[in-house]
Amino acid sequence: MTNIGSYEERIKNFDWSISSSELEYREGDKINIGWYCSDRICKQGKNDKIALYYKGFGGAEKQYTFNDVRLRSNTIGSFLREIGVVNGDRICLFMDRVPELYFSFLGVLKIGAIVQPLFSAFGDESLYVRLENAQTRAIITQKKHLSKVRKIKDELPHLEFIIIIDHKESHELKDREIALDLERRAPVEELEIYPTEAESPSVLHYTSGTTGQPKGVKHVHYSLLSQYLTTKWVLDLQEEDIYWCTADPGWVTGTSYGIIGPWSLGITQCVLDSGFSAQSWYSFIEEYKVTVWYSAPTAIRSLMKAGDDIIKKYDLSSLRHLASVGEPLNSEAVIWSEKNFGKPFHDSFWQTETGSIMISNYPGMKVKPGSMGKPFPGITGTVLDTKTFEPIREPGKIGLIAFKPGWPAMMRTYWNNEEKYREKFVSGWYLTGDKASIDNEGYFWFIGRDDDVINTGGHLVSPFEVESALLEHPSIAESAVVAKPDDINMEVVKAFVTLKPGVDPGPDLELEIMNFIRKKLSSVAMPQEIEFVDQLPKTRSGKIMRRLLHAKEWGEEIGDISTLEND
Ligand code: PRX
Repeated sequence: MTNIGSYEERIKNFDWSISSSELEYREGDKINIGWYCSDRICKQGKNDKIALYYKGFGGAEKQYTFNDVRLRSNTIGSFLREIGVVNGDRICLFMDRVPELYFSFLGVLKIGAIVQPLFSAFGDESLYVRLENAQTRAIITQKKHLSKVRKIKDELPHLEFIIIIDHKESHELKDREIALDLERRAPVEELEIYPTEAESPSVLHYTSGTTGQPKGVKHVHYSLLSQYLTTKWVLDLQEEDIYWCTADPGWVTGTSYGIIGPWSLGITQCVLDSGFSAQSWYSFIEEYKVTVWYSAPTAIRSLMKAGDDIIKKYDLSSLRHLASVGEPLNSEAVIWSEKNFGKPFHDSFWQTETGSIMISNYPGMKVKPGSMGKPFPGITGTVLDTKTFEPIREPGKIGLIAFKPGWPAMMRTYWNNEEKYREKFVSGWYLTGDKASIDNEGYFWFIGRDDDVINTGGHLVSPFEVESALLEHPSIAESAVVAKPDDINMEVVKAFVTLKPGVDPGPDLELEIMNFIRKKLSSVAMPQEIEFVDQLPKTRSGKIMRRLLHAKEWGEEIGDISTLEND
């Protein structure tokens, strides 16, 4: 029996009160995600149930019960309070997927502060931009990432505390740096939970747009109602499951479904903090007897590339339910997983902004390989005409994916950028910026993004950010960044640049530019190729036409070029 039962029945009488009553939350009550994901589970008698199995780089293994998670998050919360952190402060987590990252996430929320998780592979400039924008007060990090923080801290007057979780006494602490050794501190049995309310800010995730700086997506504690129920119905988590979400909490999947969803349900989850290889992934599933697996198309394509023979070397019979998110999941991948694991990957669609799954294939519902599925119960989703913004009634016609606002996990604003937030709404609809069609049975089929944002291996990259980094190089006059096709990542970043007079192009210069921007960008945003050109295509008003460069890379028709200046 699946948790959702019949999708058709669920959509008929849906109300978010299903979620609030299971969470024993009544409107107007205090609601704190940190408490819900640890203290409440312990109160339900699951003190000794394993909350987290962790396997680190080099094979170190650890495990923690829900009571361990409760105590450690209490200890971090109390430490932050002691040094003067208060509710509403932004606290950045800049760590690999170590257990402390998960405890800190809850600890920050418990004292009413706002948690700002950032991917630890970010370069110092990517980090700077996000800390500056959020006026972050403290950062919790590891020694290995400290050099990046030290490089930028003088330009961040708001950053008062740099907390290092694995500091060794032999190392000298510099200005603003504090060591926090969780294992040596006395566990805090009782922590006063800050009385956050439904609309109190909880998580601030940064996401890339086409232009301008990355935007901080502000979520609130009330998002729990969406995350709890979508986890239960879409991922079908049940009491005895061992759940593996492969996403890093630097991205929204890693928090909504790698922390909040599973732990608010009291489910055991496991984390593998090491690089990707088919062997290590399969052996992880075998070793921990993973039952429910939430992953991403790029990883699935990489597994497909590793071949079918290797799968036979492992016992993967524990797998019960598979799901995917982040990029288009090709029908081949769904068919491949059916053949090799005996079950399909269930695609799901959502965004940092939506906070929770919006469209999905549900357990028990017919999967159409290549389709994203149908809107979650209670979610009104459609595709809108690109000109009139009216819902399209004809099956198969392409339009803009849009949702009626009002579900609990919807972002509340972009941090300090209400204007950009308002631009996301038209005629009472929230616009995702993606295009799709809907077939005659109500299934959504993804077409592509409606903007220039590049989705490489599930990571959104702003062409603007890469172009800006390139322009800082002394030899570069102009730059344009587009997606280029790739077998595994679907899209990778490609840069076109023109050089300043007198500069000669060549492989040496390409390498020098790559090394120059590597320090500024995260590894995912790095171009795979830089092409030197004499000029870039522009509109009459001087705007670079990325669309043309994109079409060339994808072998597509170029379309209307009437506004082209330098053909
Ligand atoms: O373009 C869509 C793509 O990822 C974008 C959201 O990215 P982000 O905010 O980083 O969140 C990713 C994980 C929730 C979307 O606007 N995307 C997400 N899921 C799918 C997808 N594209 C195709 N199929 C999907 N299932």
